[in-house]
Amino acid sequence: MGALLTLDQVKVHFAVRKMLFSTQTVRAVDGVSLSLDAGETLSVVGESGSGKTTLGRASLRLAPITEGHLAFDGQDITSVREGKLNWFRRRAQAVFQDPYSSIDPFMNIQQILEEPLQIHNIGDRTDRVHQALEDVRLSPAGEIALKYPHMLSGGQRQRVGIARALILQPEYILADEPVSMIDASSRTEILYLMRDLQDRMGIAFLYITHDIATARYFSDRIAVMYLGRVVEQGIPGEVLDDPLHPYTQALIEAVPEADPTNRLRDRPAVPGEPPSPANSPAGCHFHPRCPQFMAGQCDVVDPMLVEVRPGRFVACHLYEATKDAGPEGSYVETKAEKSDDVQT
Ligand SMILES: Nc1ncnc2c1ncn2[C@@H]1O[C@H](COP(=O)(O)OP(=O)(O)OP(=O)(O)O)[C@@H](O)[C@H]1O
Ligand SMILES: [Mg+2]
Repeated sequence: MGALLTLDQVKVHFAVRKMLFSTQTVRAVDGVSLSLDAGETLSVVGESGSGKTTLGRASLRLAPITEGHLAFDGQDITSVREGKLNWFRRRAQAVFQDPYSSIDPFMNIQQILEEPLQIHNIGDRTDRVHQALEDVRLSPAGEIALKYPHMLSGGQRQRVGIARALILQPEYILADEPVSMIDASSRTEILYLMRDLQDRMGIAFLYITHDIATARYFSDRIAVMYLGRVVEQGIPGEVLDDPLHPYTQALIEAVPEADPTNRLRDRPAVPGEPPSPANSPAGCHFHPRCPQFMAGQCDVVDPMLVEVRPGRFVACHLYEATKDAGPEGSYVETKAEKSDDVQT
């Protein structure tokens, strides 16, 4: 069976008005290929502004795809019109960062959870609502169902957000920083809950986070984004314990091990200013901040994401996949040849 979700060289560019008569292009996502198998969790980490949310939204066709392709269960849905996407809307759901903004404060929990069932014309609503509340361990379900969002704690509200995503029994959930606005004490519980749901229900997750520790805990694979591109990808143990890309190395060094609440958002994570996606540098986007910058190479040639070991991808001129690699599929560190080719 093929992948459940596939993004193939997806770009999301926004035209933003700069001054009265000029616009600039914000390359929020700039050529990302990813695939997600059924039941698998892929974490996406990276600094603020690297395009994680836009990528997640593109995976649900909530951000406009400028170029590239999006497929779900083998069907290309890049440009299928919304009216023909009901089947996809039912099978793919999202949990967002702020449970307040994603649920209607004037509806009670029963109404909030029934809404997707009404949209998709599904019966047995009360039973399903109670089941979803039990799935996210909000009980007694009958009592919770009659409450309004403001009567719940932040953690409980996010559980409602998760119940709402679960109620249609989806195969794919985008979870965009689902616990970053929740107090630390309920954060871990909610992550446990999501992992348990994933194990029991076999849901595939795209888990977007600033928090490398939770990415390690929660994911089968991890992708590191920098300025709209994936710069490294692999299983968490390898990417986090033996990062190859200088950006991943800097990102990990910036997170103190012992701090369980480590968050990359508010700290000067990586030395140097992150450049703007409205003005991405030529060549490797990371080159102005890279301690291993090679002039004439990194500022000229865009490194491609290559598989340097089985399942391990990196986009950096320091590494080059070798076809005749040793038995372990080893990579060689190499100063790549100068090239006039600028890949975009
Ligand atoms: N609708 C839009 N119009 C113009 N620019 C946008 C739009 N949405 C996102 N951007 C820009 O795209 C870039 C990537 O934003 P995005 O929210 O995807 O980053 P992120 O990695 O999720 O950041 P954070 O960690 O802060 O949530 C940013 O520079 C942002 O300003
Ligand atoms: Mg975001």
